Amino acid sequence: MNYRHAFHAGNFADLVKHAALLRLLDALQADRAPLRIIDTHAGSGLYDLRGPEAQRSGEAQAGVMRMMAATDRPGALDDLAQAVTAANDGAAEPWLYPGSPWLIARALRPGDTYLACEMQPQEHARLTDVVGGRSGVSTLCGDGFAEAAKALDPRARNLVLVDPPFEKADDYDRIAVLASEALALAPGTTFLIWLPLKDLETFDAFLRDLEDACEPAPLLVVEARMRPLGDPMKMNGCALVLIHPPEGLTPSLQAAADWVTAAEAGGQAKVWSLG
Ligand SMILES: C[S@@+](CC[C@H](N)C(=O)[O-])C[C@H]1O[C@@H](n2cnc3c(N)ncnc32)[C@H](O)[C@@H]1O
Repeated sequence: MNYRHAFHAGNFADLVKHAALLRLLDALQADRAPLRIIDTHAGSGLYDLRGPEAQRSGEAQAGVMRMMAATDRPGALDDLAQAVTAANDGAAEPWLYPGSPWLIARALRPGDTYLACEMQPQEHARLTDVVGGRSGVSTLCGDGFAEAAKALDPRARNLVLVDPPFEKADDYDRIAVLASEALALAPGTTFLIWLPLKDLETFDAFLRDLEDACEPAPLLVVEARMRPLGDPMKMNGCALVLIHPPEGLTPSLQAAADWVTAAEAGGQAKVWSLG
């Protein structure tokens, strides 16, 4: 397994994912019930935008750097921009990008709990440096697909974030299996699933499988296409699928994805419901 998120941290896809994550946390925390959050693929939690990986890929330039410098940023990205500023101790130009563990750990209320799973030992060691020891937070070095369902709390409101590298052909199948297992154990569980958009066939097949696995749970789909889905070898955009989405998220998810995709001439975003 070669994937290192340090090459991609703060890119357009992270903005779409993390803006949605913050909106989702906010909406779920409107309920006083304790929140149990499981992050199946946590990464290292905080990324150095001046490090060799980020410098080599340059992906953050069109993502977080553009967002932080923008004067036309929609309100839907404000929470994320504020989190980036906080992660950088208020510095005008960010050099650290906060990943999902940093964002989630910061948002926990007393009584909320968070399990961050990361398979690569080096990434996990960094993850424990970043969020380990915080109240309500635990980390696990292992396979998040195998651990997530066991870690649900049937008495709490559960949120599962699934954000694999999609280096393995069975990642799509394992998401559908996990969703089915989790909903059997804790039926109201909300999922936020991140996907690359390469070609329509793969995306449509995944949505059909997920719909079958989760039925009758409602799904909300966010598509952020940076260009037409013509070349299956390229990441042509990204998508999010929310299972059991809280009500009222669509306008902010649409606004964030609209702004991100507007950076490309052929960019296009849409948010739609399924099920
Ligand atoms: C896309 S990154 C995660 C980024 C993170 N969710 C965020 O938003 O900041 C995917 C991570 O999953 C890890 N990984 C790959 N397979 C895994 C598995 N089966 N279980 C847990 N972690 C895995 C990789 O090492 C990588 O750090």
